[in-house]
This record gives sequence, structure tokens and C-alpha cells, in this order.
Amino acid sequence: MKKIVAFAGSNSKTSINKQLAVYASSLVSEVDVEVLDLNDYNLPLYGMDLENESGIPKKAHDFLDKIKSTDGIILSLAEHNGTYATVFKNLFDWMSRIDNKLWSDKPMLLMSTSPGARGGITGLNIAADRFQYMGGNIVGKFSLPSFGANFSDGKITDEVLNSELLEEAKQLKNSI
Ligand SMILES: Cc1cc2nc3c(=O)[nH]c(=O)nc-3n(C[C@H](O)[C@H](O)[C@H](O)COP(=O)(O)O)c2cc1C
Repeated sequence: MKKIVAFAGSNSKTSINKQLAVYASSLVSEVDVEVLDLNDYNLPLYGMDLENESGIPKKAHDFLDKIKSTDGIILSLAEHNGTYATVFKNLFDWMSRIDNKLWSDKPMLLMSTSPGARGGITGLNIAADRFQYMGGNIVGKFSLPSFGANFSDGKITDEVLNSELLEEAKQLKNSI
């Protein structure tokens, strides 16, 4: 059985992006899903001096190992001030010190959601633009606007948006 990892670019215990990532993973048929949580990969703030003095933390290696050993990735990015959240950027920076092509060509469904009408799409697009230089293989993109109005009881309630995500989930399934 193929496997995918699903996670949010957030360390909120009630992360709406984690909820969306988990839901999206349930739409990918016949795969083993491992849900990851950035709270299990707490890392010090990246700094060159820190890296020179202490090396790269084990948890950055551990997370990268999860990426390397999976067949596909579902990532939903929280947006803070128009880009992806610092907790994700920090992990991204640490992992890039191990392997600049960290996404390793693994098929990825890249998503975002937020309480606002734009659904965090600005941060999503910034990430998509950058990931292409770093081993990114984005096979699907999806942004869920107005999370509070469109998501309830663990799923998307708006039919049109749900159909869009189903298509993206199929794309991911067909790519792994
Ligand atoms: C510092 C900060 C900045 C934010 N900036 C944005 C933003 O630029 N765009 C947006 O749609 N939401 C913004 N939000 C709201 C987040 O989208 C919201 O907190 C969301 O729940 C974050 O996702 P998460 O629950 O997965 O962590 C911001 C929230 C914080 C705390």
C-alpha cells in the first residue's frame, strides 16, 4: 500500500489547516495516511551561529525522513501576515540545510485555509512558487475560503468546494 503524510503549517492545537489536511487525506483512496503535527517537531529558531555551534537538530532530520520515506504529501499552510507561518518557515529552513531539494519530487497536494475570504491563498502561492526550486512536485492546489462558513464536523460543507478538493485528491492519488 502506498503511503502519504498529511500535516499543517501550523502549531495551533486547534489548527484549521490540520483539520483540512486530515479531511483531504480521507479523500485519497487506498493509501496509508500518517498525520504529522509540527508540535512534535519543536525546533529552535534557525540561526547560522546556532547551526555552526550545535549542528542541525535531530527533529529536523526526523521530519525530513518522513518526507523522504513517503509516496505523497498533503500540506495545508496557515497564513500569517500574507505568507506562511513562522513555525513552518523555521522547519523549512532547517530541513533545507540538510537537503536543498527537500521535497524530493514527492507528489504534493498543497492547500491553505483561513477564516478570511481569501483562504490563505497568498501564502499558498508564495510557497508554490518557492517549492519548485526545492524538489517540489505540486500536483494539486486547493484553498478553502471562509473556513468557519465552509467546514463543519470534519468536512467541507460547500458542495462546489468539496468537488474541487475531490478532484485534487484524485490528482494526488493518480500521481503516487
Ligand atoms: C499573526 C497572525 C497573522 C495572520 N495573518 C493572516 C493573513 O495574512 N491572512 C489570513 O487569511 N489570516 C491571517 N491570520 C488568521 C489565521 O488565518 C488564523 O489564525 C488561522 O486559524 C491560522 O490557521 P491555523 O488554525 O491552521 O493555525 C493571522 C493570524 C495571526 C495570529
